[in-house]
Amino acid sequence: MAAFLAAFIKRQFFTEPPKPTTSFAGKTVIVTGSNTGLGLEACRSIVQLGAKQVIIACRNIEKGKTAATEIQQSTKCSPETLQVWQLDMSSYSSVQAFAQRASSELERVDALMLNAGVMMSTFQLAEDNESTITTNVISLFLLALLMHPKLRETAKTFSTQTHITVTGSELYEMAKFKEANVPDGQIFNALADETRKDSLSDRYNVSKLLVNLIVRQIALLSPLGSSDVIVNVVAPGFCVTRLGNDNELFEKAWVKFIVRLLARKPEVGARTLVYGASAGPETHGQYLPDCKIAPLVGLAKGEAGEKLQNRVWTELRHKLEATRPGVTTLS
Ligand SMILES: NC(=O)c1ccc[n+]([C@@H]2O[C@H](COP(=O)([O-])OP(=O)(O)OC[C@H]3O[C@@H](n4cnc5c(N)ncnc54)[C@H](OP(=O)(O)O)[C@@H]3O)[C@@H](O)[C@H]2O)c1
Repeated sequence: MAAFLAAFIKRQFFTEPPKPTTSFAGKTVIVTGSNTGLGLEACRSIVQLGAKQVIIACRNIEKGKTAATEIQQSTKCSPETLQVWQLDMSSYSSVQAFAQRASSELERVDALMLNAGVMMSTFQLAEDNESTITTNVISLFLLALLMHPKLRETAKTFSTQTHITVTGSELYEMAKFKEANVPDGQIFNALADETRKDSLSDRYNVSKLLVNLIVRQIALLSPLGSSDVIVNVVAPGFCVTRLGNDNELFEKAWVKFIVRLLARKPEVGARTLVYGASAGPETHGQYLPDCKIAPLVGLAKGEAGEKLQNRVWTELRHKLEATRPGVTTLS
């Protein structure tokens, strides 16, 4: 804990992710959860870097349109550059409808930026799991795997490498993940068990740990060369956004003071997302805090981390296959 805090303070005070400069000219990019916060700033940056088309994927179309107008006015891009599409990550049918539309209507998808996320302060179910896990993990990988063939096809057709970039968090390091102390095959059941709601304070951290483990597994199953789709996880640092704002902790004066003192502007945090979506093949399967590759630590580390990764992947596979047979077959 002390080491994490020291590293966190050092990073927030003394490190600033570099402004992205890689061109997105001619590219089509999808950013989930981009009507506000880091996703909105990532869209703005990608438009400024020349993208041909950016899809603002959000659950509230009106909010998405407001964001699109704001980006269009600030960048002076053509209004056709930005499109607002419906996507609710708490619903598997919405995720499937979105993937179907994106795969059939878009000529190419160069980057899928899986950024939508929640930090819940109350226990709620969405589909078959607690809603943080459904939104931040299960739907996220359902969408990633449904879209993987389109990104593979884009890479092949346009002789390029495409990207699936997940917005993770440094907080994965702090995950206690007591729900993993159950027999094999029971982890997601434990996460959906409301009687364990005392562990909700750990839930966001667990969701970000799971994201790192599963991305590492997907990279193993789909090495570059077989697909040319780079899959990675970025971590933007602590940024002022609406994330977790319904938590009463954020009302406390000392928390407000720390936020003012330490938090990055969303534009600065979003640089890490844009980096992930344009980074080189060396980032496949990697965790990228502040635009650099870093080894996974905590529960993701070493042999125990690999064992946990296998258990989580086996369970997630069953879940995703039950929703869409064949979706986890990667080549
Ligand atoms: N802010 C930080 O310090 C920080 C640090 C590390 C990682 N992150 C990660 O960064 C990502 C973006 O968060 P943010 O900080 O920009 O927070 P934010 O301002 O709250 O934005 C979150 C976005 O996700 C969307 N979203 C939430 N649930 C959704 C659902 N069911 N379907 C579709 N979209 C949904 C939100 O849409 P609505 O507007 O409709 O709610 C919003 O667009 C998250 O994955 C978060 O975990 C943030």
